[in-house]
Amino acid sequence: MKPLSLTVVVVLLALGYAQVNVLEPECDSPEAEEAALAAQDYLNAQHSHGYKYALNRIEDIKILTNTEGDNTYVVELDLLETDCHVLDPTPVANCTVRPKVLTAVEGDCDVALKRVGGKLTVKAFKCKTEESTEDLCLGCPSLLPLNHTTALDFVRASLATFNNFTANTTYALLEVGRMSTQIVSGGPQYFAEYVVAEANCTKDVCAPLTEGVITHGICSAKGVTAAHTVNCKTFSVPRLQDANSTAVPSWSPAFHAHSRKHGLRHHKLTSYHDPHVLGLLSVSSESNEVVPVVVLNGTAAPVASTLAADTSSASVEVPLAVVKRDVPASADTTVPNVVATEPVLLIPRCPGRVRFF
Ligand SMILES: *[C@@H]1O[C@H](CO)[C@@H](O)[C@H](O)[C@H]1NC(C)=O
Ligand SMILES: *[C@@H]1O[C@H](CO)[C@@H](O)[C@H](O)[C@H]1NC(C)=O
Ligand SMILES: *[C@@H]1O[C@H](CO)[C@@H](O)[C@H](O)[C@H]1NC(C)=O
Ligand SMILES: *[C@@H]1O[C@H](CO)[C@@H](O)[C@H](O)[C@H]1NC(C)=O
Ligand SMILES: *[C@@H]1O[C@H](CO)[C@@H](O)[C@H](O)[C@H]1NC(C)=O
Ligand SMILES: *[C@@H]1O[C@H](CO)[C@@H](O)[C@H](O)[C@H]1NC(C)=O
Ligand SMILES: *[C@@H]1O[C@H](CO)[C@@H](O)[C@H](O)[C@H]1NC(C)=O
Repeated sequence: MKPLSLTVVVVLLALGYAQVNVLEPECDSPEAEEAALAAQDYLNAQHSHGYKYALNRIEDIKILTNTEGDNTYVVELDLLETDCHVLDPTPVANCTVRPKVLTAVEGDCDVALKRVGGKLTVKAFKCKTEESTEDLCLGCPSLLPLNHTTALDFVRASLATFNNFTANTTYALLEVGRMSTQIVSGGPQYFAEYVVAEANCTKDVCAPLTEGVITHGICSAKGVTAAHTVNCKTFSVPRLQDANSTAVPSWSPAFHAHSRKHGLRHHKLTSYHDPHVLGLLSVSSESNEVVPVVVLNGTAAPVASTLAADTSSASVEVPLAVVKRDVPASADTTVPNVVATEPVLLIPRCPGRVRFF
């Protein structure tokens, strides 16, 4: 839905290539899936707080080949938040995507990858994370900002309950992942998901341990401050024994403080990353996009493939019309039929299949 056409043009300019071949495989082709899954795993490894994201749909893919034969894959992905925290060792394929009624969170990402030694490696990405507000029901639990005072009191009360049942170990709060509330007879009931770590407590100050193998817990609590149930799944994470290791998410209680500052209701994917300053994805994706359209005998078709086919050729067709199109928040496979007077028959190359919703 985003203007990959614009992205491609910018890529061509940014790379300064005289000749670039652009392939547009189908969104459900094996090469698209390979790139998408490599991107999904990379994005999950990038964010050190919040939850893992699972691929929902491949929105578009282009494979650019320069004269040296190097391939750059540019994929546009729709991802959905799962209920597995990034610290949870469960593979993302086994994680449950959060259903719409529990407020799904959606990540829209543009990712550029290159094949290095046979393996697709992410070179740059850009993501936008949003709550999906479709299909929310009256009476469903609704997300609360992560700095909500009453809900945080509920989190602390439920953690105190948990600590009362753990023999010699005391856990300290590391991160609040989600908090929501539901109105039931008798007033609001709270739901919270949070992450704890084994702590070193002196008098009344508990600080999470920072060295060695530390037990973490992923907790979910339900109820009110005075009466609740709490469940924590604990596991051990070897922590930063090698300062250069990237295998262990390097996180600190600092981001807990961070989430207090903002009024967000969910954690976000890392939004922008271009370590090699390739400028591959530098076009900002606004919800109001200018999409060039070629008018060919009453039918409208996106211009991307025309431009992409062969930029060195002098016979590149000039866009005859530029339309401003409102991009709907939801998946929409229809081509904007702006100037067409006759039905448009296009075999949809993209977007690909929807895995969840
Ligand atoms: C993930 O799912 C597969 C297939 O359902 C199962 O064999 C495997 O044990 C699961 N792994 C974990 C860590 O849950
Ligand atoms: C802690 O647990 C004991 C029994 O296991 C219970 O009697 C006590 O009320 C609990 N304290 C709190 C603060 O939950
Ligand atoms: C808890 O501490 C007591 C006394 O310090 C010790 O005997 C016991 O083994 C410890 N329990 C666990 C589970 O570490
Ligand atoms: C616990 O904290 C105290 C005081 O800050 C410190 O001296 C001690 O080394 C800490 N213990 C561990 C196991 O981190
Ligand atoms: C970590 O990286 C630094 C510089 O990048 C290097 O000097 C050091 O030896 C590395 N340490 C380990 C344990 O690999
Ligand atoms: C939560 O964050 C929002 C936005 O930064 C702020 O306006 C609000 O006052 C904060 N609420 C609390 C209880 O800290
Ligand atoms: C437009 O379509 C008509 C009828 O299908 C055809 O005769 C005409 O040559 C087409 N014009 C162009 C410019 O393709």
